[in-house]
Amino acid sequence: MTSKHFKILILGFGTVGQGFYELFSKKRDSLGLSNVSVSEIVDMKYGHITNPKQGIIKELEGGKTFPQKDVLTAIRESDADIVCEFTWLNLKTAEPAYSHVKTALELGKHVITTNKGPSALKYNELIGLAKKKNVKFLMKGTVMAGTPSFNLLDLLPGAEVISVRGIMNGTTNYILTSMEQGKNFSVALKEAQNLGYAEADPTNDVDGFDTASKITIISHILGWKHEFKDIKIEGIRNVTPEQAREKTKLIAYADKTTAYVKPIKLDRDDILSGVSGVTNAIEINTDTMGKVYSMGPGAGRIQTAQAALTDLVTVVK
Ligand code: HSE
Repeated sequence: MTSKHFKILILGFGTVGQGFYELFSKKRDSLGLSNVSVSEIVDMKYGHITNPKQGIIKELEGGKTFPQKDVLTAIRESDADIVCEFTWLNLKTAEPAYSHVKTALELGKHVITTNKGPSALKYNELIGLAKKKNVKFLMKGTVMAGTPSFNLLDLLPGAEVISVRGIMNGTTNYILTSMEQGKNFSVALKEAQNLGYAEADPTNDVDGFDTASKITIISHILGWKHEFKDIKIEGIRNVTPEQAREKTKLIAYADKTTAYVKPIKLDRDDILSGVSGVTNAIEINTDTMGKVYSMGPGAGRIQTAQAALTDLVTVVK
């Protein structure tokens, strides 16, 4: 770690923002990050908090309202070195997260995000901007939360990826597993929502858009030219209980020329067929190692916070 002091501005202090703040506070010393601090938090509900004190989460007062139009001003006026973007998902325009990320990068600030909007829809522009400004734009939390996924490749220098295949949406895998066990679709969806896995708009999960955003992000990182709008997407609405019992899973797949999301009946000896409940898994097929797998939580408060913490260590090391 360098001895430079890094200040963090957190945008969005909901589940992920609070989870990150809590995890960072807890792990800061053991990670040797005494040179890193959260200097500002901006949230529509909690307002603009500067130099938050330990225990801020318990003392939060809602109802403060921070106008969206002032968020960009707050970024511009901030002296933070790192912006952690944890606002809501918009897979149509990526806003407002896109403007937050762009503004921060233009100012030469590192950006860490768990938001799939800017990462899937505006990757090339934003990564280009980050390179130009010599800062990092990191998004581990967008794919499988803190469970290693595309970042596994950092451990395999030189390995060429031939294809990627996976179960990257906890909500749909939970629903399919529940259907396999005899529950009906809407009860299972309700349970996934109660567990906090489903997106605010569960259509993103059920109809495959969330999974498609993840395979798009992986494709961008690998330098493949698949855009979100070009991914062939089929969700799980038409999967029957019988098909669920026959190990039909919502599979995301990409290689250099093809990318799709669709329910596929898996062979019983396919490792992915044994992935159940909200668990995610990825298979990365490489020229040097053949198939490499990672499996674990793909969502959750602390699990997503772990991803942002992983990115933070990459920025400050
Ligand atoms: N709604 C997503 C899921 C959350 O169910 O996997 C994580 O991206």
